[in-house]
Amino acid sequence: MRNRKPLMAANWKMNLSLDEARDLLNGIKSATIDFNRVDVLVAPPFTTLRLAHELLAGTGILIAGQNMHWESGGAFTGEISPLMLKEAGCGHVILGHSERRTLFFETSETVNQKVDAAIEAGLIPIVCIGETLKQREDKKTFDIIKTQLDESLETSCKNGNLPQSVIIAYEPVWAIGTGKTATPEMAQEVHRFIRRWLIENFGPNTGETIRILYGGSVKPDNIKELISQPDIDGALIGGASLKTDSFVSIIRFYDS
Ligand code: PGA
Repeated sequence: MRNRKPLMAANWKMNLSLDEARDLLNGIKSATIDFNRVDVLVAPPFTTLRLAHELLAGTGILIAGQNMHWESGGAFTGEISPLMLKEAGCGHVILGHSERRTLFFETSETVNQKVDAAIEAGLIPIVCIGETLKQREDKKTFDIIKTQLDESLETSCKNGNLPQSVIIAYEPVWAIGTGKTATPEMAQEVHRFIRRWLIENFGPNTGETIRILYGGSVKPDNIKELISQPDIDGALIGGASLKTDSFVSIIRFYDS
């Protein structure tokens, strides 16, 4: 029996006006959630963080930034620092999302720098990895996942030390926003591989404690099956996290 508490994390991406965000946050707030059974996190755009922080105060719902720079400050137009995220109310930060990697040319090397900076600043990184359709078809999924893990967590691997609070998100690129979900068995196979990699590099305690989320077209009607897999510890949800009803049904997976 695994004792990792599931985490349902909403990745809003570049969506929702302040008014829409207020409605959604109030909707989540008024839902009955059993926080003994699930952790809940929202990652709104930077300009909505403050509102989320105010509205969610005292609820136990966690807040994350969607990205961050590794430097603490300076001439980096358009960037945001770890401390700025903390001041805005974040305890977590999503790093290396595939949209950052493909559309904004982020590499695993810079993700590694960001992971180090986040840990140093006391933020919990949610480190995203995942293969493209071509890589899967070429049967390179496990090689790609291993390389992304080796490189995105390079410093931690060298030190042999990774905080147990760090979160990994496996998001097959071909499943993001496409309506195509990996089958629970396909996802579990990769999650198991990630778990073994964590155990090899950081030992069984850390490897068995770290939560591995699945992301890619997660919806109320597939969450139950996904979360029933032994190494799937929650989800990173894009589209279905933008509406109160669907996000709340995903959070309350334990009801269905
Ligand atoms: P999706 O996005 O749920 O819309 O597929 C997931 C993500 O990109 O984190």
